Formats: sequence, C-alpha cells, structure tokens
Amino acid sequence: MTSDHSEQIRAVEMALEFPHIEVIGIDLTESNPKIVPGNCRFIKADVIAFLEEYAGVFDLIQCRSVAKHVPDATALTCLIGRSLRPGGVLLFADAITDIYNVDKQPYPLALVNDSASNDKIRSWFARWLFEATARWTTKAQQNTEGDKLHILMREDSQFEYLGQKTYYSPINWDGGDQEGILNGAEIGKLMLLNVLDFLQASRPSLLSEGLTEATLQVWDKNVRDEVTAPTKRMFLKWVVAWAVKV
Ligand SMILES: C[S@@+](CC[C@H](N)C(=O)[O-])C[C@H]1O[C@@H](n2cnc3c(N)ncnc32)[C@H](O)[C@@H]1O
Repeated sequence: MTSDHSEQIRAVEMALEFPHIEVIGIDLTESNPKIVPGNCRFIKADVIAFLEEYAGVFDLIQCRSVAKHVPDATALTCLIGRSLRPGGVLLFADAITDIYNVDKQPYPLALVNDSASNDKIRSWFARWLFEATARWTTKAQQNTEGDKLHILMREDSQFEYLGQKTYYSPINWDGGDQEGILNGAEIGKLMLLNVLDFLQASRPSLLSEGLTEATLQVWDKNVRDEVTAPTKRMFLKWVVAWAVKV
C-alpha cells in the first residue's frame, strides 16, 4: 500500500478496525499520523525498491495516485502482482486530469491568451491541471489516468481484472443530488483545500518548465476566483479499479 495524508488515515482506520491484520503504508515522504496502532507502520521508501523485497506475501495492496508518478507503471503493476499472494487483491485508484461539469462532461480548458477569470464555459483550474500534469516527467507513461488503470491490470497475466467504479468529488459545493455522492458538502470543502494546496505545490514545476511568474500570477488568481467563489459547478472524477492475483 502506498500512503500519504488521507491514505494514512485510511491505513490507521483499517488497522484499528481489523486488529488481526498488519497494515504497512509506503511513501517517498515521511508519514507521521497522530495515532499509529501497533499493527500499523509507515515506511519512507521507494515503492519499487520496497516491493522488490517481497514475493507472494500481501493479501491486499491499495495503490492510489502513485502509478502516475513512478517511471514505469507497468513495472510497478508487475511487482505488485509478484508481491501479492494468489487470491490477493490489487486496488488501483487515480483521478482523471479533467474538470467535469454537472452533466459529467469535461470543461474545455481556459484559453491562455484570454485572462478573463469569469468564463462560464471554460475552466482555469482545468487549464492549470492540464499544464501541471503535462509537465510531470512520467506523464509520458501510458494508462495511469484513472479510467485507464484497468489496462495495466488487464495487460499483466498475473491478474484477473474484476471491475472499476467511478466517483465524482464536488469542488467547493455539495455535489447536489447526484447519485453516489456521500458526504458531498464535506468532500467539497476538502477538495477546495486540495485545489489550493495543489496550486502551491505545482507552481515550482510550472516555473521550472517554462512558464513565467507573471503568467502564473494571472492564472493563479483566475483559478482561485473560480474555485473560491464558484460560478460554475465542478467535479474531479476518480476511478477505482480492482483485480485479483490468479
Ligand atoms: C498524488 S500523491 C498521492 C498520495 C496518497 N497515495 C493518496 O492517495 O492520498 C502522490 C504520492 O506518490 C508518492 N510517490 C511518488 N513516487 C513514489 C515512489 N517511487 N515510491 C513511493 N511513493 C511515491 C509521492 O511521495 C506522493 O506522496
């Protein structure tokens, strides 16, 4: 399992709910949740190097929003398969790099030469997300978008692919009466914090990859205007896909 932030909470909750299991969270960064039960530990490591040490031992591996970041997602999938016991389960999850409207259609990207922030048709956050993820060095890696993760599982003969589910997280609203949205208002608030954090965290990579400070100032303001006082309803789309080790 790879882990960080909300994934840490999930790991701790899982360990508390099932005291007879051992839960391990892996991330390149330090994980220090306030409460860590005895049957749970967090390891700061490269998931590839970590998994290379294990074969046929894990019952469940959850890998959320990480396949996109490793240099070779196919190799990661293969290693996960090797480290699971037969019958063990892989849960892959990731978002899709688009921002969706209430009809579950992607907003077109805001136009870079049009600095107006109140365009109701196009989205500045969609533009920022696109520009940031397009610059990730591993972005050339295929099949790591949420709706493509199933291909990684289907192409690896160690797995029987079983299915996938889609979720839409509202950004700074409650998601309305859309089917399948639980705790929409809370998710909406958390997603706003996520977006603002993401703006901050992705800024250095945008600067180092050719965008100017002046451009980013305008875009940053436009995204903040868009998400903090929304004139349009926005969702981020997630997909969870699962497979069993044969
Ligand atoms: C978008 S965050 C997702 C965090 C967490 N898994 C979640 O779902 O909330 C991507 C995470 O991948 C981690 N990461 C990237 N490459 C990694 C690697 N080779 N091994 C372990 N973790 C890695 C980063 O440190 C970062 O925390």
